[in-house]
Amino acid sequence: MKKLTTMFSVLALYAGMSAGVQAAPDTIKFSHVVAENTPKGQMALKFRDLVEERIGDKYVVEVYPNSQLFGDGKEMEALLLGDVQFIAPSLSKFSKYTKKLQVYDLPFLFKDMKAVDRFQQSPAGQALLDSVNSKGLIGLGYLHNGLKQLSANDPLRVPSDADGKKFRIMSSDVLAAQFEAVDAVPLKKPFSEVFTLLQTRAIDGQENTWSNIYSKKFFEVQPYITESNHGVLDYMITTSTEFWMTLPDEDREVLKNALNEAVAYGNAIANEKAMKDRQNILDSGRSEIITLTDVERQQWVEVMKPVWNQFQGEIGEEVIEAAVASNQ
Ligand code: LMR
Repeated sequence: MKKLTTMFSVLALYAGMSAGVQAAPDTIKFSHVVAENTPKGQMALKFRDLVEERIGDKYVVEVYPNSQLFGDGKEMEALLLGDVQFIAPSLSKFSKYTKKLQVYDLPFLFKDMKAVDRFQQSPAGQALLDSVNSKGLIGLGYLHNGLKQLSANDPLRVPSDADGKKFRIMSSDVLAAQFEAVDAVPLKKPFSEVFTLLQTRAIDGQENTWSNIYSKKFFEVQPYITESNHGVLDYMITTSTEFWMTLPDEDREVLKNALNEAVAYGNAIANEKAMKDRQNILDSGRSEIITLTDVERQQWVEVMKPVWNQFQGEIGEEVIEAAVASNQ
């Protein structure tokens, strides 16, 4: 009897296949650490929707925001293990895989986001996307968030105001050196822990973009935000060689086009989002936004800029020069 049932199941399966019953779509997981209402969050959702529209019979993209699936300490390993297929970490989080991307962390390197964009699109900027290839990772493109601001429990107007204060930083030696340059104490911590660290006053401050400060409510527990625009926080959309290169060519192309469009969308809203969230913070009355005078800002530049020399060997002089040239 059992034999007969098995035979019928096999026949039914065969009949289903020949009648065109399709296999379930493959799941593609996109994991990130920020809120959905941010350039990265919106970009990932756009990518999901475009894939569904264009090739939804073959692939379904699941987006996991807010470190739900993996925090930033784990997402690259998860990518290499095949537990997730796309991530978009901040450029500051790649130092285990390449030292070249450290260029983006150099303080006061880019005068504005247009300069960042020019550098990213230049041959030198594009070449940096390949700097992780030897580690089994593929950089598929850049995504903007924006320029970083300094938030703290006390007002930060001149570098000596940061003396002895503890700042959360992303896992970057350049960022550590930047805070050491003002005699502050940098602490490398995952993004998911920042709010609690600030709320409990285990740390005094942090640096981040307007959209992250707003969407993660840092402004509710940080009475002062200095509009320093001292560095950039952008992303590299990253996949693994193992996943990407084993896709059928035609699928890879559809996915890449969808990704490019999603990135263009994310980039187009990034600046507007930054300005809107800055205004939201201002309107909340929870945090005072400190505008630096030219003289005050110049003091931060003078103390922090020597950090460039410390990392020039690892990054490459020509890469730094190309980045500087993008300011013109
Ligand atoms: C941070 O850790 O502060 C940021 O990298 C979070 C993000 O992905 O924007």
